[in-house]
Amino acid sequence: MTTDDALAALAGRLAAADGLPAYVYDLAALDRHAAAVRAALDGVELYYAVKANPDPALLRVLAPYVDGFEVSSGGEVAHVLSILPDARLAFGGPGKTDAELALAPKVSRLHVESPYELRRLAGLLDGGDPVDILLRVNLEAAIEGAALTMGGGATPFGMDHAGVEECLKLLDRDDRLRLRGIHAHLASGLDAPALLALAAEVLGYARDLGLTEINLGGGMAVSYRNPAQMFDWAAYGRGLAALRRPGEVLRIEPGRALTVYCGHYLTGVIDIKRVHGETFAIVTGGTHHLRTPVTKGHDQPFTVIPGRTTDDHPRIHDQTVTVVGQLCTPKDVFARNIPIARLAVGDVIAFSMAGAYAWNISHHDFLMHPKPGFHHLG
Ligand SMILES: Cc1ncc(COP(=O)(O)O)c(C=O)c1O
Repeated sequence: MTTDDALAALAGRLAAADGLPAYVYDLAALDRHAAAVRAALDGVELYYAVKANPDPALLRVLAPYVDGFEVSSGGEVAHVLSILPDARLAFGGPGKTDAELALAPKVSRLHVESPYELRRLAGLLDGGDPVDILLRVNLEAAIEGAALTMGGGATPFGMDHAGVEECLKLLDRDDRLRLRGIHAHLASGLDAPALLALAAEVLGYARDLGLTEINLGGGMAVSYRNPAQMFDWAAYGRGLAALRRPGEVLRIEPGRALTVYCGHYLTGVIDIKRVHGETFAIVTGGTHHLRTPVTKGHDQPFTVIPGRTTDDHPRIHDQTVTVVGQLCTPKDVFARNIPIARLAVGDVIAFSMAGAYAWNISHHDFLMHPKPGFHHLG
């Protein structure tokens, strides 16, 4: 059975059992994708950015393919260790509390975001093994074509050179803190050539400081407009291999580009109507379950799975449709003016590309509609 057939069969069962809306994660597809990414990255450490989707089943599928997990809160540290107690963690993120800094002995790398954070960390240590740290840098770099930029200019992420120098002085005086290298997650949504160009700048910066461990962050582009156009992992892997010098440890920590493809959000069409010349299909659930199209300003790709319809159900043929949810806000739009061959009340809409920054970034409790179900295929 193909993934599409399995999804359609599950959609039918869920619709019949009043089980929509629902998230479906295709674990077999994730396994194949993770294996391909791993194979493309010879000699580069691969961490998964848990913030993209912390679903326990996804973490278990990824575990054999990754060297560790990037986490950005005490909650994520506890979550990953409860599922994978031996996982290696790289703990980053701005604004860590003292309680979070005190978790340093449980993680393999702590990414320091500011001189004051480093001072607070030093103040919390009382003996034991030294803590291995990377300094998160925000380099002055021209970043073009990114969906989101976290560096290259004034942002709250990481440090400029003055901050790095301040940290280096502090580190010189404290042997409980072991400086391993630098961390740089400068932007999201870049293709392989753009990420390799940034990697060269980051590596140059690390080499000037005499550091040999470099975490280059995530940010590999995915295309919601054209899902088939995927990040070129093979070219990226070859490029990193060419950049890496003997003795250097290169690490990356992608999120979106690893898990986005395995997730589907399934929902039923509950009404179709025409208002002032525009046709709207209203589905159960909404962007409080899948906020991604609103936050990123795209049309969420979808397919229609024909469902149980009767003659009195509204239906449309060969026209454009705007797909919206149940929220009382004009922002609750999944996709606008999409050409469609046929759609009827009772059909199931299967949104794809819903495996990253989807459920876990959404405002679930707005309007108090029921939560979706969660199902795993494969
Ligand atoms: C520090 C850090 N690393 C990795 C990621 C993952 O980025 P992406 O999901 O774009 O690959 C993020 C995302 O914001 C991040 O902040």
